[in-house]
Amino acid sequence: MAPSRALIRPTANLIRHTKPSPTTLLLRHHRQASTTFPSDSELPPPSQSSSQPLPPPPQQPSVNALPPPKLKPLTEAQRSFLSSCLRVNQAGELAATLIYTAQTPPVLAREPHLAPLMRHMYDQEAAHLRTFNALIAKHRVRPTALYPLWSVLATGLGWTTAVMGREAAMACTEAVETEIGDHYNGQIRRLLEMVSQWEEEGYEVGEEFRELIGTLRRIRDEELEHLDHAVEHDAQKAEPHWLLTGVIRAGCRGAIWVSERV
Ligand SMILES: [Fe+2]
Ligand SMILES: [Fe+2]
Repeated sequence: MAPSRALIRPTANLIRHTKPSPTTLLLRHHRQASTTFPSDSELPPPSQSSSQPLPPPPQQPSVNALPPPKLKPLTEAQRSFLSSCLRVNQAGELAATLIYTAQTPPVLAREPHLAPLMRHMYDQEAAHLRTFNALIAKHRVRPTALYPLWSVLATGLGWTTAVMGREAAMACTEAVETEIGDHYNGQIRRLLEMVSQWEEEGYEVGEEFRELIGTLRRIRDEELEHLDHAVEHDAQKAEPHWLLTGVIRAGCRGAIWVSERV
């Protein structure tokens, strides 16, 4: 059964978010925490016999002394990076659902046994898109302004490769997922660098930030699973494979570069 295009609709509504605003919630977890615990120097010494003098009472902290911040505020560059991550990921996942939507009818017309595979990959892409739709709305990130252009190009790419045959359709998936896998890996690396830096400086890392990294890892793994499926289904027998995958990969890199910025 061909996937429904209705999934695009909620995303299209997000385009109306024209007011750019910071990734508010990721910032929110970086507010100062109020809970503090006594340091080792404030703890009473181990139990002593009654013949020994009582230890001095622990000193009360000054009312004016603020606890050190437990979560470090994001810099402007980090905020901008997180916004661009969500924007480009949402655009990419929209493109992926449109590629599979366009590919499925021509591919299944010749190879109906591929229906479960096409359905499985589409369903995962649709779930990725829902994830980033939710994140982009939650953090009030502006979606890419080139949304309509990417939609047309993705549909055209999916339909063209599917009409060329199963091998070309799978080569398209191979090329796209190779670039997307690298793209997610780059984001995960950068976020892990931020985590390492905060930990070295003695700050805590918010649960929401860790969840974002976990989400990106899970989606990255699913994209690489699609890459494996494509290769298993003769992607590399497409003619001419080098040209097809080269052009699609270059197109993906260009689209990623632009969507991060526009
Ligand atoms: Fe995806
Ligand atoms: Fe994918």
